[in-house]
Amino acid sequence: MFDASVYETRRKALRDEIGTGLVLLVGNSPVGMTYKDNAYPIIQDRNFLYYVGLEAPNLVCLMDVDSGEEWLVGAEQSTMEAVFMGQQPPLSEVAKQAGINQVLSFSALQEKLQKSTPTIHYLPTYRGDTQLTLAQLLGIDPLSLKPSSSLIQAIVKQREVKTAEEITLVKTTMETTAAMHGLAMKATKAGLREEEVLAEMINLAVSSQTRFSYQPIFSVDGQILHNNSYENVMADGQLVLNDTGVHARNGYATDITRTFPVSGQFTPQQKQVYETVLSMQDTAFKAIKSGVTYHSCHLKAARTGLEGLQAMGLIKGDVSDALAEGAYGLFFPHGLGHLLGLDVHDMEGLGEDAVGYDVSTIRAKQFGLSALRLGKSLRENMLITVEPGIYFIPMLIEKWRREKKLNDFICYEKLEAFMSFGGIRIEDNVRVTKDGLENLSEVIPKTVEAVEAACQ
Ligand code: GLY
Ligand code: MN
Ligand code: MN
Repeated sequence: MFDASVYETRRKALRDEIGTGLVLLVGNSPVGMTYKDNAYPIIQDRNFLYYVGLEAPNLVCLMDVDSGEEWLVGAEQSTMEAVFMGQQPPLSEVAKQAGINQVLSFSALQEKLQKSTPTIHYLPTYRGDTQLTLAQLLGIDPLSLKPSSSLIQAIVKQREVKTAEEITLVKTTMETTAAMHGLAMKATKAGLREEEVLAEMINLAVSSQTRFSYQPIFSVDGQILHNNSYENVMADGQLVLNDTGVHARNGYATDITRTFPVSGQFTPQQKQVYETVLSMQDTAFKAIKSGVTYHSCHLKAARTGLEGLQAMGLIKGDVSDALAEGAYGLFFPHGLGHLLGLDVHDMEGLGEDAVGYDVSTIRAKQFGLSALRLGKSLRENMLITVEPGIYFIPMLIEKWRREKKLNDFICYEKLEAFMSFGGIRIEDNVRVTKDGLENLSEVIPKTVEAVEAACQ
């Protein structure tokens, strides 16, 4: 947790942006996995964490924008809770850690809200229990909640640009991430199950005081974009896609992908595809700077991908036409990247479009481009991922081929030789600067030579 003054300053900036009314931020509560008391690990809501800093569950923050008053809402701990969970300080002491000097009970908050006339700003929910809590506090039907678009916009504007302190935290967490990717490259051997390497990464993450910031993807089936099973026995000749990131107690996440050969040596075919993905990323790196849209960076990277695929004989015809028609979507069906911060897909709980698009950049409908989560203009000190990929997805290839989709551009007959290829993604985390970017994950091996050396 930062010093209380950091949260006071953040909340004041938010109040100033909102102008008038009440702001209600609801923290997360424990959620049962199989019954109430066997709960998932408690992860604090990231907006609550950003503005209040407290990780404890069952808390709400209320702000009166007009008077500047703030309250931490919660319950004093019962003796039995202290017996089971360890003793916690009184609520007023907890509030002080966040620079809040008034406390309220839930029933007092409920009364205050249901009597209040000003606008009450609250956020969209992504959990049923939060939805019910909000509805109960406001005295309305859970299905008639109306999140505040001005609160969403104000939060996005503030959270999308990172301070020096936040960037330092990500850099520290990146050290563990880098060590984890290096370890995975070394530990991978033919004959091992994917989960045996996963276990080594878990060991390093936990002993370095971090936790995974999302379900790791560690698989020889890299063509399954969000593959969360780890049961394959790895064999020489296969590629492993490792998309793994961590967050420390401060919450700031990393999100890194490397793809490497099980044997430690790329085959000529794998090398050609790998070099193409690498040059897609290089094209994006050259395009990224504050003021340009990420949509335009995505298209530039996609063009480089098409050129590489054409050199391999998999794409024919005019590359500009193939780009305009979205032929690359068969091989690169996701976006170039997304915002990164306290959330791995930062702030997506507020709505993907609310975070990644704005009035001047509308999400495209074309397959592939439609999956781009961040399309709008980049700002200095945004943290973003740059994660191009090329995948050979048999189901998708068969479907497009059956439909004769983009027959003028795609050499379906040549794809036979790639049906068991898998997929390659290369993902780095960068800070946008005025003239370019700072790559926060530069030390993680990435060139063909560096990856092969790290696998030894
Ligand atoms: N780890 C999920 C992603 O790269 O977006
Ligand atoms: Mn990732
Ligand atoms: Mn990512």
